[in-house]
Amino acid sequence: MLTLTDKNIHRGSLILVNEQYGIEGKPEDLLVPACDRVPEVLLLRCAATLLNELMQEIQGWDHIVPVSGYRSLEEQQQIWDDSLRENGEAFTRKYVALPGHSEHQTGLAIDLALKQENIDFIRPHFPYSGICQIFRDKAPKYGFILRYPAEKENITGIGHEPWHFRYVGAPHAQIMTDAGLTLEEYTDFVRQFSYGDRAYLTRSGSRDVRICYLSALREAAVSGNTPCTVSGNNVDGFILTEYLSRG
Ligand code: DAL
Ligand code: ZN
Repeated sequence: MLTLTDKNIHRGSLILVNEQYGIEGKPEDLLVPACDRVPEVLLLRCAATLLNELMQEIQGWDHIVPVSGYRSLEEQQQIWDDSLRENGEAFTRKYVALPGHSEHQTGLAIDLALKQENIDFIRPHFPYSGICQIFRDKAPKYGFILRYPAEKENITGIGHEPWHFRYVGAPHAQIMTDAGLTLEEYTDFVRQFSYGDRAYLTRSGSRDVRICYLSALREAAVSGNTPCTVSGNNVDGFILTEYLSRG
């Protein structure tokens, strides 16, 4: 039996963090270096592990550097204040999340740059070609999405950021990428698959996967012994991912 409490709505790899839905406190899980060669850039352990598996597959760390991972509220405030002063308000609102509303505060987001001499901290160069594009193409398989695509600025509230990747976990990253859904849109999409009513069916590796939504308003207790993960959506409930063995 899995019992979910209101507090858990704000935890997990699928939490939606944007201008409307903020984040409080610090991550509870362990923060570790995103890349051994740059020990000061941190990520939650699950995100760091998958990122390194991907980088291993493409020998990515020979050409790509992590620029920014986990940020405390104070760091986000500093980046916001510095950018306001140096770049003005329009630029800052476009490329820097409001303090208290940055995905970087979750430990699930990473900014990456192509390795070169001068790296822009707010807008690192991560082109749609070469090794960066190879990374981008493989990212969903390892649970990462390009969080701020072009043409979706009105939904995400942030300008196009080719360098910012967000860990949401597989198979969600693959579903979002294939369907062209932002995390805002996916959060709404999953809400129609209400637990006990119907589920979204997909596959992950060799397993069938059932995805559904649990409202925080109803009794959020899931029973059974199917392997599953649960994440809050940071809005109003939970996303349940069940991994079924294939018969
Ligand atoms: N650059 C992203 C939006 C952040 O500051 O979290
Ligand atoms: Zn970022």
